[in-house]
Amino acid sequence: MGLLNRGNIKEKPDRMHKPGKALPKLSGAWIKGLKKNQKLPEYITENVSEELIHLEDLVKIYDTGALKVLGLKRINLTIHRGEFVAIMGQSGSGKSTLMNILGCLDRPSMGHYYLDGVDVAAMNPDELSLIRNRKIGFVFQSFNLISRTSALKNVELPMTYARKNKRFREQRARELLERVGLGKRAEHMPNELSGGQRQRVAIARALANEPPLLLADEPTGNLDTAASVEIMELFSQLHKEGTTVVVVTHEEEIAAFTERIIRFRDGQILSDCPNVPRKPGEEG
Ligand SMILES: Nc1ncnc2c1ncn2[C@@H]1O[C@H](COP(=O)(O)OP(=O)(O)OP(=O)(O)O)[C@@H](O)[C@H]1O
Ligand SMILES: [Mg+2]
Repeated sequence: MGLLNRGNIKEKPDRMHKPGKALPKLSGAWIKGLKKNQKLPEYITENVSEELIHLEDLVKIYDTGALKVLGLKRINLTIHRGEFVAIMGQSGSGKSTLMNILGCLDRPSMGHYYLDGVDVAAMNPDELSLIRNRKIGFVFQSFNLISRTSALKNVELPMTYARKNKRFREQRARELLERVGLGKRAEHMPNELSGGQRQRVAIARALANEPPLLLADEPTGNLDTAASVEIMELFSQLHKEGTTVVVVTHEEEIAAFTERIIRFRDGQILSDCPNVPRKPGEEG
C-alpha cells in the first residue's frame, strides 16, 4: 500500500453525480450496522472526478438572529486534482467560511459544492461524516490534537472511525509519523511536543485515511518561521506525491510555496493567479 493517495482516477468522469441526480441514501442505521470490510458506495471510496472541488454560485449567510452576515457571495471556483493552492485575504474576508464548507464542517446556504463530483448539499449528516473521513484531511491553526493521548493514538483516530483493525492502524500511524519526521516521538503526548511537531502530528493524522484533499486553515499561524517553512515543505512534498493541498494564509512567504494564489475580499474572489512556487531551501 502506498503511503499517500496518488490521485488515480478509477472511475470515468461520466460517472460524476450531476446536479439533480439522486444519490443512493445511506441511513445512520445502515452505517452503524456496517460490517468489517463491507463495501461503501463508490462515490465515497473511489476517486471520481478530475475536478476535485467545484463551487457554483456558492453563498454562505450567517443568520445570527437580528443580523444576517454574508460570509460568501456567489463563489464560482474549480480546483483540480493535484493542485497546490493558497487562499489569502484580509481578516473577515471569508477564508475560514470557505474552508469550513470545503471541509464539510459547514454547509452552504445556497449554490452547489461538488466534492469529487458529488453535490455535498444533497447529503445527510451521516454521509457527510463518511465523506469527510475518506476524502478530506483537515489541519487547523491550533493543531486540535487530543491532549493526554499519544501522538500515535491521535494519528490512529480517523482510522478507528474508518473501522481499520488495530494492527493496521498502529502500523500505518507509525509509518505516517516516520513520514513527518516524528518516528521517535510516537509515544509522546501533545504537551511534550513543540508547536511544529504538534502540527506535524496533525498532518499525519489528516493523512491517515489517504484522503485526496488536504485542507489547512492557517497551519503556520502559531509557528515560528523555521517551523512554518518545515510545514510548507512537507505540504509541497505531499503535493508532489499527488495530494491536492489548499492552504489559508496571511503571509506572502507561505503562499509563495504554492502554485496558485486566490485572494478574497468581502466574501468574494478578488483575484486568482498562477504562482511559480518557492523551492525547498530557497530563501523567502
Ligand atoms: N459563526 C459565525 N456567525 C456569524 N458570522 C460569522 C461566523 N463566522 C464568520 N462570520 C462572519 O463571516 C465573515 C467571514 O469570516 P471568516 O471567519 O470566514 O473570515 P476569515 O477570512 O477567515 O478571517 P481571519 O483571517 O480573521 O481568520 C466575517 O464577517 C465574520 O464576521
Ligand atoms: Mg479565518
